[in-house]
Amino acid sequence: MSFGLGKGRTLDATSHGIEAAVFPALPDEAVTNPASAWIDPRGWFADPARPFEIEIGSGKGTFLLQQAELQPDTNFVGIEWAKEFFAYAADRVRRRGLENVRLLHADATEFLRWRVPDGCARVIHLYFSDPWPKARHHKRRVVQDGFLAQAHRVLIPGGELRIVTDHADYWEWMERHFDRWTAPGSEPHRRTPAPYERLAFERPASAGTGEVVGTNFERKYAREGRPFHSTVLKAR
Ligand SMILES: C[S@@+](CC[C@H](N)C(=O)[O-])C[C@H]1O[C@@H](n2cnc3c(N)ncnc32)[C@H](O)[C@@H]1O
Repeated sequence: MSFGLGKGRTLDATSHGIEAAVFPALPDEAVTNPASAWIDPRGWFADPARPFEIEIGSGKGTFLLQQAELQPDTNFVGIEWAKEFFAYAADRVRRRGLENVRLLHADATEFLRWRVPDGCARVIHLYFSDPWPKARHHKRRVVQDGFLAQAHRVLIPGGELRIVTDHADYWEWMERHFDRWTAPGSEPHRRTPAPYERLAFERPASAGTGEVVGTNFERKYAREGRPFHSTVLKAR
């Protein structure tokens, strides 16, 4: 896919971008036989056996660009549903020549729910996820019980869901979810031990001085002096 930016520049997402629209339709048996719908994103790389990480809502791709360069032996997929950001990030990755990064134009929660095989990702990154502040829009937030169940399914044992947000109200919402998903026997998972344990967030090597993770939104919000909240949920 390529389209113009207006000022004579064209974004080229063809080599490093994948459109979910080209995937075959979900088969009827997807509910009873989930593996029938899987599209293994590890197969998009020259070496599918390498460790695999997913970023949800990768925006302009800044985290991927910075971190993938420092982890050349890890494959990364950034999932972004805004077409312009998807294409912008895929174009940046192409120009940087990063063969261990692909961008996917899709709804990340749907892709995780239906398409990603069990136990394949070492890390899922979720940075500055849209807060959807109005109560009637809370159902659009990425962090939900269903999402935490799917993230747990997709992560390898010991894999990590890494989260940073600036939004106090969304953070409170997340913490209520995290409490359930780290408490043994709690609804809705009813598992003992609990699916996740909570750890302190560790800054990635690519974060700049004073940064938590170093994404575009962090840089924008840091200039406004906003405090940040971060955590890691480690899958058992
Ligand atoms: C506030 S921005 C943060 C972007 C980037 N992570 C950063 O920190 O600079 C949130 C991004 O997530 C994307 N997004 C939100 N929900 C999504 C979903 N369900 N699937 C894919 N992308 C999503 C939005 O389009 C947007 O680019």
